[in-house]
Amino acid sequence: MLVNATRMLLKARDGHYGVPQFNINDLEWTKSVLLACEEMKSPVILGVSEGAGKYMTGFKTVAAMVKAMDESLGITVPVALHLDHGTYEGAKACIAAGFTSIMFDGSHYGIDENVAKTKELVEMAHDHGLSIEAEVGSIGGVEDGVVGAGEIADPAECAKITALGVDFLAAGIGNIHGIYPANWKGLDFDALDRIHQATNNIPLVLHGGTGIPDEMVKKAITLGVAKVNINTECQLVFAEATRKYIEAGKDQQGKGYDPRKLLAPGAEAIQKLCCEKIKMFGCDGKA
Ligand code: 13P
Repeated sequence: MLVNATRMLLKARDGHYGVPQFNINDLEWTKSVLLACEEMKSPVILGVSEGAGKYMTGFKTVAAMVKAMDESLGITVPVALHLDHGTYEGAKACIAAGFTSIMFDGSHYGIDENVAKTKELVEMAHDHGLSIEAEVGSIGGVEDGVVGAGEIADPAECAKITALGVDFLAAGIGNIHGIYPANWKGLDFDALDRIHQATNNIPLVLHGGTGIPDEMVKKAITLGVAKVNINTECQLVFAEATRKYIEAGKDQQGKGYDPRKLLAPGAEAIQKLCCEKIKMFGCDGKA
């Protein structure tokens, strides 16, 4: 069943585990993630960036596909359909399209504008029964063409945004989208602790989950992180499995070119990775 993400994240915060947000890009992705979460009996947040939404021909298509697939696969675990790094307009479009959760990323605005826009969207989201994530201090790297410098969020600004009634908060602590550079300094746990102390125990979100060492992810979960986002790593395992299939010439054997065969190794690789992440976050059996 599609639900908003509030309850699953409050439970995760209190139970000291992390709920996965796996980003989806197409039908195969969605199916692999849903099957993994059902297998592991884990709640899940399906993240949809504005670019991925566009690629899938729009948020309405995504919502219709996810709702129908959830039903036809007989998924029993809680599933939230969540806009990832949304603009103000994108957030409104997702509320109208039937998403159950949105992220408004106003981190590139000054704090006053971020507060003003987040405040409006909190009201809109809650009026429609959706949960809402906000962001303070941009996440580094490039996500769908949006470049973030990777700031450390200011706890006082985090407190301002939290006070608006957002349900969970993304705060930069040195995390980066995509692949981490070799000289990456790691997560700033002191900053995470200060943010956690300043934000009334709101479930915190760790973006840029790809490539963060397991021990750091687990430590972040002990310091208030209740949601961990993974996108790039699914893309990497999908690409690798697909490449192997083609390099082995399997697309040229029999009907190996059939997309149902060609895309199967990549889809299986995503499913396997999701199961491993769920276990590492301690979210297995928490549905
Ligand atoms: P990665 O692509 O680094 O896993 O980050 C995902 C993310 O944070 C989505 O918002």
